[in-house]
Amino acid sequence: MRIELPHRSERFGAVRIHGVQEVWELDSGGEPASVDDNAWHSIHHVPSTTINDYERRMAIVVPVKGERLKVLDGVLSGIPHDCLIILVSNSERDPVDRYRMEKETLRRFCRLASRSAQLIHQRDPGIAAAFAEAGMPEILEDDGLVRDGKGEGMLIGLALAKLSGREFVGFIDADNYVPGAVYEYVQAYASGFHLAESPFSMVRISWRSKPKIQAGRLFFNRWGRSSQVTNRFLNLLLSSYSGFGTEIIATGNAGEHAFSLDLALRMQFAAGFAVEPYEYINVFERYGGVLASPDKDVMKAGVEIFQIETRNPHFHENKGADHVQEMRLQALNVLYHSPISVQDVRDEIADFLRQEGVIGEGEEPPQELLYPPMSGIDWDTFGRVLGDKSESFRQIEKVRPASLERQTPIPEIPDSESKG
Ligand code: GDD
Repeated sequence: MRIELPHRSERFGAVRIHGVQEVWELDSGGEPASVDDNAWHSIHHVPSTTINDYERRMAIVVPVKGERLKVLDGVLSGIPHDCLIILVSNSERDPVDRYRMEKETLRRFCRLASRSAQLIHQRDPGIAAAFAEAGMPEILEDDGLVRDGKGEGMLIGLALAKLSGREFVGFIDADNYVPGAVYEYVQAYASGFHLAESPFSMVRISWRSKPKIQAGRLFFNRWGRSSQVTNRFLNLLLSSYSGFGTEIIATGNAGEHAFSLDLALRMQFAAGFAVEPYEYINVFERYGGVLASPDKDVMKAGVEIFQIETRNPHFHENKGADHVQEMRLQALNVLYHSPISVQDVRDEIADFLRQEGVIGEGEEPPQELLYPPMSGIDWDTFGRVLGDKSESFRQIEKVRPASLERQTPIPEIPDSESKG
């Protein structure tokens, strides 16, 4: 991949936010980068061999809730071969068992493509028990199961990525109509990690366009409706500290994003659709230098955030205006209540929410749920309890037919099927 180097970067304490970088060439060849390739240039060649090296160390988590199977199948086909696929489903099981259909789709894909994967249902009592017994009961609802929500699905995926020994984790929504876009996102994740100088890094995708049909024509929208609002307020927070206006943050809501596990396991995540904007807020809270940081090593090495503008259009299921409204409200709620939020930002958020008719005069935005970092989890216990109690956890082994060689993602944990 040939990728622009960030022209601008801004700092917030130990966090470096790089400006949006464009992809210039999807595949720039496998030749190692030479002096001629990268010196003096503002465009960087990341050899396909280097990208592949990162893909081998990466898990891709696909959160899914009731998406069309054909679209899910397309998403799977776009995930580069050497990444581990982790499907976390919150789809209905009754009266129609959609989880079972997703399992069959994933199994068929893995058999034909000769690759390994994991899948689990979010409301499986076994994953709830694993969180409870290993030290993170906050993720459970009153019914004793993991809460509904995209953020919660991502946390399950993160735990499985950690148990599988992967060093990087990326997220890809299951409702993406363009398999080529999925492929490009993962290549961009790998390129970002390659450019990072710190082991604590995050890569977020900014799509070039989001096509819509308007008046019978294809219109290539530049920004999503919730991103515009989220980015505006996150940038306002930065400028209220630096004293300089900025538009550096372009990926406040990015559903497609990836972390080094070294960073992800130390961060706090928010519930539901507050999850993505809160990732920015939480790194500012922990490593921005405003509050005392719990991680001295991260403060020393710094956190790097890359924002990569991909070439493929982002073409996904349209879930309607109410859904967009819900997402942007959740983003503003977490920013409003953050201990690093300043009064000017709070006032502007409250004014905006009043104009939108969401809160009344004198009312405050609601609080969103925040989870503790996963660094407190006892992973041995988590794996043991998951293996013993899970009903839906499956590990699809990579089988090479000629040699009958098998590779299980987490060999130590039996999945429900092998228990009989
Ligand atoms: N496991 C799990 N659990 N998955 C879920 C859940 C849940 O409770 N809720 C939604 N998902 C899955 C969906 O099936 C889809 O694959 C993905 O999470 C994103 O959910 P959508 O409901 O399709 O969100 P969206 O497409 O409107 O918004 C996406 O883009 C935004 C940026 O524009 C999401 O990724 C947002 O988080 C993101 O901010």
